[in-house]
Amino acid sequence: MAPHSIRILGDPVLRGRTDEVTEIDGRLARLCDEMFTTMYEAPGLGLAAPQVGVRKRFFVYDVGEGPEVLINPVITESEGEWEFEEGCLSVPGLSWDIVRPKTVHVTGYDLDGNDVSVEADELLARLFQHELDHLDGVLLVDRLDDEQRREAMRTLRELNLADKPTPTNSGLQLP
Ligand code: NI
Repeated sequence: MAPHSIRILGDPVLRGRTDEVTEIDGRLARLCDEMFTTMYEAPGLGLAAPQVGVRKRFFVYDVGEGPEVLINPVITESEGEWEFEEGCLSVPGLSWDIVRPKTVHVTGYDLDGNDVSVEADELLARLFQHELDHLDGVLLVDRLDDEQRREAMRTLRELNLADKPTPTNSGLQLP
């Protein structure tokens, strides 16, 4: 069984900007290992920390060239346009044709604390943009055009997956 259950749309941990990683240590490495197991089992190509309930800026991925971790990633350049049918483990079973930049330059750190700088094209570029979105609390449904969104909201309501209102602290405590 996967070490973590993947959080699904409607879970507030998927929303809001995550915090920078300040310490790259054994604890983070172990969490990444667990995230790889969870990701491969799903299966998926990438998994961002908020998807396992951790509000930190890192994600794991494998586009067929082995497992990689990117910590505190930043997109420094993006170019072009590319349409791709995108899905998300947090919005299970659904996918949409989404246009985003075709190439991106991403910088960040690996698990050894080394600088990483990657020029990514097409699938890898898409994965980076998708996972970066997760770190900012943005989900696929936020990237749809009006028509796609109306249709998506209908489907998500049927699946009971629409975002629930964030609970506010009203000061009222029920036993
Ligand atoms: Ni996703």
